Amino acid sequence: MSVTATVDVRPLVRNDSVHHSVYSDPAIFELEMDKIFGTAWLMLGHESQVQAAGDYFLTRMGREQVIVTRDAKGLVQVLMNRCTHRGAMLCHNPKGHVHSFVCPYHGWTFNTEGTLKSVPTPQGYGQEPSQVLDRLNLARAPRVESYRGFIFSSLAEQGPGLREWLGHMSSSFDDLADRAPEGELEIAGGVFKHVYDGNWKLVIENHLDGVHPNYVHISSVHVAQGAPDPGQPEKYSDISVRQMRQNGAPEPVWEAIGMWTTDWGHGYMGDYHSDSRLVVGLNNPVFQEYRRRLESRVGTQEADRVLGVTRWNSIIYPNVSFMSQFRQVRIVQPLAVDKTVVYTYNVRLKGAPDEMFRDTVAFSNVVNGTASWVLTDDLEVYGRVQTGLSNRQPEWVNLARGLGGDVPDVDGTLRGGTGTSEVFIRRQFGAWLRYMTEAQ
Ligand code: FES
Ligand SMILES: [Fe+2]
Repeated sequence: MSVTATVDVRPLVRNDSVHHSVYSDPAIFELEMDKIFGTAWLMLGHESQVQAAGDYFLTRMGREQVIVTRDAKGLVQVLMNRCTHRGAMLCHNPKGHVHSFVCPYHGWTFNTEGTLKSVPTPQGYGQEPSQVLDRLNLARAPRVESYRGFIFSSLAEQGPGLREWLGHMSSSFDDLADRAPEGELEIAGGVFKHVYDGNWKLVIENHLDGVHPNYVHISSVHVAQGAPDPGQPEKYSDISVRQMRQNGAPEPVWEAIGMWTTDWGHGYMGDYHSDSRLVVGLNNPVFQEYRRRLESRVGTQEADRVLGVTRWNSIIYPNVSFMSQFRQVRIVQPLAVDKTVVYTYNVRLKGAPDEMFRDTVAFSNVVNGTASWVLTDDLEVYGRVQTGLSNRQPEWVNLARGLGGDVPDVDGTLRGGTGTSEVFIRRQFGAWLRYMTEAQ
């Protein structure tokens, strides 16, 4: 039980605004770690990161540091990264392969299911050491499920199943996975990790925000507008110019895009661009080879359908932002009320030409790398927002853009009346309040 569990958060969320303290009060952050990150489904990664028994990687679930591994039976396990003896962090390397996890302090050894297998001099625990030691297996996340290979886990014993909770958003994962000529994805290469001085909600809000690019990213838009025209079919290096120009699209373009949201705070931006405007190499031989491979597996009609989906960022609240067009997955990890780390992974479409993955990595460098044209702008503004929100006046943060124009749409979604409606933030706070006030 947290000492913060008595904070009454209901008055902090209104239909058109939220109180600034939801971004800046450490007590509310602690409550979020209990009530949101301590219960919601959190995406941890992808099954390709733990292909073989004994493969593992480290990540976080709110405050908890966890090991994601595949056990000897082939099941994905999410183990708390804390030795059950005197509490040492059990595993230190960010990823690897083990037969068992051996604590660096006194050598307690756990198998990949988290079962304590051996301790030194067990007679120190009496005639029947098992009576003590059998209770000292690693703690495990109670629920682990996957969708299209993406691993989710929840620290709550009870709650909606993953598919029910994802709802309409499962179609965004389908959009990503269906693009693979072999029907499967893998996370490949390394991971970008960047820390910013701001609340975790800022990045989740920013990725569906269609107003900010023309302001936050205007310097790179200007550079791109002055650059030579991209588009030579044989060239494969136009990502940055195309992306920056798209960020500078005029207001009517942003107003016309689609914005869909769900009850659990998820959402996605659709119709942001068509391949002809952005995706590198539509007429490129590499892209044509990719299309040919996709068609040979699913047929021309299905390939047209798959490639005709024009979603941009999808948000799975509270900790994921991903996009199928350039195959990026960003996992958000809160560290403190004003500090957050984001892990960015690149996804490879199995069966696609290798150059497609190079394209993905290049996009990652342009948009998600710490020296990118885009991310650096956003990180600066997150810091400024956090500084502003630490002011006590004015008390309220305005979220009224598009209020009243939101309309029910396909599969239980609520759609913004325009593409720049702040409906996605209002829906995120609807989910926030639900998590924060639900009894556990
Ligand atoms: S703390 Fe892990 S073996 Fe002692
Ligand atoms: Fe941005």
